[in-house]
Amino acid sequence: MGLKGKTIVLGVTGSIAAYKAADVASKLAQAGATVPVMMTRAALEFITPLTFRSLTHQQVYVDWYDAGSDLAIQHVALANQADAVLVAPATADFLAKLVYGFADDPLSGTILATQAPVLVAPAMDGHMYDHPATQQNLATLRSRGVTIIGPEQGHLASGLTGMGRLSSTETILAYVKMALGRSGDLAGLRVVVSAGPTEEPMDPVRHISNRSTGRMGFAVAEAARDRGATVTLVTGPTVLPDPVGVKVARIRTALQMLDATQSAVRDADIVVMTAAVADYRPAIQAEQKMKKGPGDTTVMELVKNPDIIATIQGDFVKIGFAAESEDLIRNARTKLAEKRLDLVAANDITAPGSGFAVDTNKVLLVHPSGEVEDLPLMTKAEVADVILDRAVAVRQQRARQPVVAG
Ligand code: C5P
Repeated sequence: MGLKGKTIVLGVTGSIAAYKAADVASKLAQAGATVPVMMTRAALEFITPLTFRSLTHQQVYVDWYDAGSDLAIQHVALANQADAVLVAPATADFLAKLVYGFADDPLSGTILATQAPVLVAPAMDGHMYDHPATQQNLATLRSRGVTIIGPEQGHLASGLTGMGRLSSTETILAYVKMALGRSGDLAGLRVVVSAGPTEEPMDPVRHISNRSTGRMGFAVAEAARDRGATVTLVTGPTVLPDPVGVKVARIRTALQMLDATQSAVRDADIVVMTAAVADYRPAIQAEQKMKKGPGDTTVMELVKNPDIIATIQGDFVKIGFAAESEDLIRNARTKLAEKRLDLVAANDITAPGSGFAVDTNKVLLVHPSGEVEDLPLMTKAEVADVILDRAVAVRQQRARQPVVAG
C-alpha cells in the first residue's frame, strides 16, 4: 500500500520552484517509490539532473534524441511502467503544451502515452496563474481527468503575494497517494471517522477537555482515503490541518459531534470512532466569565453527554477505541458489548510510545468472538491500515453469511 514499490515519473519544468522538486523526489524515494525524473530544457536552467540522479538513483531524462537513454529505444517505456506521472512544478507554458498534446520532449510525450493517473502542481507568477488562458487550460486538463494540485497562496518569486506558490511536498505526496489508491480495496465505500477531543464550555473562556490530539483519527481518515474510500472526518479542536481529499467537519462539543456524525453516517459503510468525547458537560454555560467565590472549594454540576457511537445506527461496520489506564481487555470487552461494536482497538495510554500526542500506538484488537490481537508498537498510520483490514474482513464475513428470509 502507499508509495512503496510504485513507479512515480516526476516531471520538472522551468519554474524557480524547480528547486523544491528535489524535496519531492527525495520524499518519494524515501517512501519506497522508484522515481525516474524527466526535466524540460527550461528546468535545466534552475536545477541540474545530477541533483535528481543523486536523490533517486534513477536515470534523469531530458532529450528524446539522447542515444544513451533507454527512451531512445523505447520511447513510451516509462509511460507504460508508471503508476502515476507527477509534474511538479508545472509552468503555465507546460500546461498549455499539455492541453494541445505536444510531444516534443520526453515528459510531454510520456504524459500523452500513459494510462496512469497524471497529476500537475502548477507554480507561476500570480498574474500568469489568473490569466484566462491558464485558467481555461487548467479547466480543460481537469475535465480530462488530470489532478491539479494547488497552487497555494503566498509569497511569489516575482515579489507579488498571491496564488501561484507550489503546494507543499506533504500536500503533493498526499495527492499522489490518493491517486494511487483510487482503485484500492475501499474504492466505492464511504468511511466516517471521528477524531480529537471535545470541548465542553463552562463560560466564554473556559472548558472541560482532554489531551487527545486527533492524530489516530486523522491517520485512519488518510489511510481510508489512500485505499480509495470517500471519507468524512468529524473532528474536535486540533492543530492538525485538514487532510487532502477528505471532507472535514470541525466541531467543538459532544452535542455538535453527535449532530455532525449522525448526518455523516447516513450512507456509511465503515465507521471508526477514535474521538475522545467528554463524558460530561457543565450543566450550565455561564454567559459571562465566572468569578471566584469566597470559599476554598466550589462545585460544578455536570450532565452526561450522549454516547455517540452507541447512538448512531445503521448496517455499517462499527469500530471503536478504548483508551484505558487499567483493566484494558475487560474494559474493551464491556465497550464492545454495550456499544454493539464489530471491533474495539484498545490502547494502554500509560504504555511507552502509546496514546496522546505521539505518532505511534500500542493497540490490542478485541473482537466479538473473544479473540484478542496484540499488535506490536506501530505508527498510527500502520495501526490505521490494520484496523481497515479488519473492517474489510467484517464486510466479507457479512457478505458470506446467508440472508435469513423473514
Ligand atoms: O470514552 P469511551 O472509552 O467510552 O470511548 C469508547 C468509544 O466510544 C470510542 O470509540 C469513542 O470515540 C466512543 N464514544 C462516543 N461517544 C461518547 C463516548 C465515547 O462515540 N460519548
